Amino acid sequence: MTESSARKLIIAIDGPAGAGKSTIASRLARKLGYANLESGAMYRALALKAILRDLSFDDEAALVQLAQKSRIQLEPTSTGNRVLLDGTDVTLRVREADVTEGASRVSVHPQVRAWMVARQQELGAKGGVVMEGRDIGTKVFPQADVKIFLDADPVVREQRRLQQQNLRGNAAQATAAELRERDQRDRTRTVSPLQPAADALVLDSTSMSEDEVLRRVEELVHSKLGG
Ligand code: DC
Repeated sequence: MTESSARKLIIAIDGPAGAGKSTIASRLARKLGYANLESGAMYRALALKAILRDLSFDDEAALVQLAQKSRIQLEPTSTGNRVLLDGTDVTLRVREADVTEGASRVSVHPQVRAWMVARQQELGAKGGVVMEGRDIGTKVFPQADVKIFLDADPVVREQRRLQQQNLRGNAAQATAAELRERDQRDRTRTVSPLQPAADALVLDSTSMSEDEVLRRVEELVHSKLGG
């Protein structure tokens, strides 16, 4: 059975920031010929729109209305997702610090999450997707064929993030503090806090290379494909 003729799986990769989800998800998607969907980018796009409209990240009702009037599109590419907000390319803008914090703050609201989850379910419904986020295996696709929870020691995640962005000094300190704060918020929110699904394979990548993580994930995928 070739991979292209095989059943199109839904693969969920969850975990905290800096654990390596995006890299693993995009490498895996490329190998399988699947679409890689970064669900966090959707929360980021909504946070950006709230910033542009001068809306509070705490105003749940206004944020839901805003989401309903927005067109948020993810276009998988070989280097990650291109993010379109109402037709405008905001891929780089949504990675900036104000949007990063905003995404974590808008994502605590149950009605915002319900809207996002419904959109994400539509995007992945046909299978052939690797979707990464915080609640993919628990809420978006509890029936996913493969569930990975990718974690790593907080200090290591911080270092990876700073290296990725080539940050030093004050900028590094600010980013590290932001990462810790966001982690805390994502793990302790009332609705869908970040936690592994009961049936997820939990991988701690603290002392694993990217290639090793990918190999473990691929083994699981191939066992599901019956290969
Ligand atoms: O994966 P990311 O860093 O782009 O996510 C940005 C924020 O969005 C993250 O801090 C929490 C939120 N998020 C979420 O609550 N659920 C998801 N499935 C993905 C992201």
